[in-house]
Amino acid sequence: MNRYVIYTSLLIFGVVLPLALITAWLITPPPDPSPPPAPVAIPKLRLPKVPLPTGNDPESIVLRQSILNGERIYQRLCYHCHGRQGKGDSNEYMASIGHKPADHSDLATMQKLSDEEFFVALRDGVKDERGWLTMPPWASVLTSREMRDVIVYVRHLPLATSPN
Ligand code: HEC
Repeated sequence: MNRYVIYTSLLIFGVVLPLALITAWLITPPPDPSPPPAPVAIPKLRLPKVPLPTGNDPESIVLRQSILNGERIYQRLCYHCHGRQGKGDSNEYMASIGHKPADHSDLATMQKLSDEEFFVALRDGVKDERGWLTMPPWASVLTSREMRDVIVYVRHLPLATSPN
């Protein structure tokens, strides 16, 4: 074997081939460790089906907007304690100390609360006999318009049919 063949073999097997193997190893992406996670199914919210006025007269349009805006606020800020259906059964702690909120979906109960009393309870919160807030005040969070919209929504809860 002549020297030329030996040098060429050494170059190929000693340098080119290892370099090619190392490069191939470096650029090969690592195998995917785990299959992609299955999409998480988000349970659909079961909200009370409050009747919405369908007319296109200004009064119906305003009422519809108020109910929908009130629903957005209630189901975002109030449901933690008052429950999705407004039954007042989602705060075990308040119930345990005798301050279970009223059932907002019960017509007879809600008729005892005037719009003005409702507004004041919302704006200033509700205090217990020691003057401690059992229901937080919302004046710094909601505008009066938003508080009125929540009241309109709550007034419609007793008219709601089964949750959708
Ligand atoms: C941190 C819990 C909590 C949140 C949040 C909350 N409330 Fe209350 N709310 C209460 C409790 C507890 C009472 C009962 C107070 C009592 O009887 O001492 C109450 C009472 C009320 C009352 C008086 C009638 C009743 O149910 O007893 C109204 C009206 C009311 N809440 C509306 C709302 C609205 C509207 C929101 C959302 C903007 C809201 N609350 C958010 C806890 C909460």
